[in-house]
Amino acid sequence: MRIVLGVGGGIAAYKSASLLRLFTEAGHTVQVVPTEASTRFVGIATWEALSGHPVSTSVFDAVDTVNHVRLGHEADLIVVAPATADLLARAAAGLASDLLTNTLLMARGPVFFAPAMHTEMWNHPATQANVAALRSRGAVVMEPASGRLTGKDSGPGRLPEPSEIFAAALAAAAPVGAAAGRLAGKTVTVTAGGTREPLDPVRFLGNRSSGKQGAAVAEAALAEGARVRLIAAHMEVPVPAGAELVQVETALELRVAVHQAAAETDILVMAAAVADFRPGELAENKIKKRDDGADPVITLVRNPDILAEAVQRRAELGSGPALIVGFAAETGDGTSSVLEYGRRKLERKGCDLLVLNQVGRSLVFGQDTTEVRILSPQDAPGTEPIAVAGTKAEIARHILDRIADELDAPLPSH
Ligand code: CTP
Repeated sequence: MRIVLGVGGGIAAYKSASLLRLFTEAGHTVQVVPTEASTRFVGIATWEALSGHPVSTSVFDAVDTVNHVRLGHEADLIVVAPATADLLARAAAGLASDLLTNTLLMARGPVFFAPAMHTEMWNHPATQANVAALRSRGAVVMEPASGRLTGKDSGPGRLPEPSEIFAAALAAAAPVGAAAGRLAGKTVTVTAGGTREPLDPVRFLGNRSSGKQGAAVAEAALAEGARVRLIAAHMEVPVPAGAELVQVETALELRVAVHQAAAETDILVMAAAVADFRPGELAENKIKKRDDGADPVITLVRNPDILAEAVQRRAELGSGPALIVGFAAETGDGTSSVLEYGRRKLERKGCDLLVLNQVGRSLVFGQDTTEVRILSPQDAPGTEPIAVAGTKAEIARHILDRIADELDAPLPSH
């Protein structure tokens, strides 16, 4: 593979020498493109000697080979390590201020960033927004490692070990199983997390969804070679590297994002915990305690059922996702079992598969392990689908296997 190794101006630049070695020893051709600032940490001579190729920071060197266009075009993979806050900002803004940022703009293949900076810089909303923008365009941005930083401080911001960057970058270039991925060439849209319904500028109605299951489904779909779009409401876990992120807050925002995505989606997985109700009115200003001591009254209105709508729109338009998958969390009660409630929900929503979770007070939400049964309208009456227990990652792989099986089998016309 032809790899461009971009080196940002941070103290961790020296670690990229080991990364370069790992790439070259694995048989890859590496062109190093440092930023001007990084050459204060590691000089050009080091990169030329280790890579065996001439190295420059500027678009005005080797102009005859049109380096600033060629490098990005020809690269099978671009890895930026360390990616400083400044470099992430320039890449997110689309600046072309040196050879490396030109190369990033000309990239045709996967782009991978391994950030390194102080914790405050990493956590700063500006950096987080830049990371989100890069991820939404399909770049892979690793989470930095935690530990001792350059000064006396410690926390997230350390450059991950070269061996970790090496493995993750190659995985980004060819997602695990992508060659034989059962979903190669397919687009999967996953909704995840819990919606937040605002009451006033500071308060909202939310739920306990962590987004773990949706994130795990997105990750499993990436591993099967799919293009993955993650429509994320509030999540407590990171967005899987490689997924295109659409950030939403409310059920109504999620609805717009889902219907927009549906036209170019093969598989829609509705793992988000969508609020069934929202406050009827959004107060413009913070709701204050009343002087007369009266309790406030909040009127709730129904949110649309997005999953049912997606099924209905597919029928009306005669196009849309080949497979629509819903989730249900049920406790069962004196009148009906978990399975009976699941079957009724499957019928009501009209989706192609329903992933049924049994929930109790401490079960499922935020937990790492869970137990599911996958229901289909094609199930023979009276049969009980087998329950599969495992971590959310294992459950996600089970769901993706079932999805791939359904796509392989001739589908009933919708
Ligand atoms: N869902 C949706 N829109 C809603 C509510 C839920 O698209 N307004 C989706 C969820 O993403 C999930 C499935 O519907 O895939 C089941 O959600 P659940 O909350 O269990 O179903 P409800 O219809 O709310 O049923 P219940 O009466 O049990 O609350």
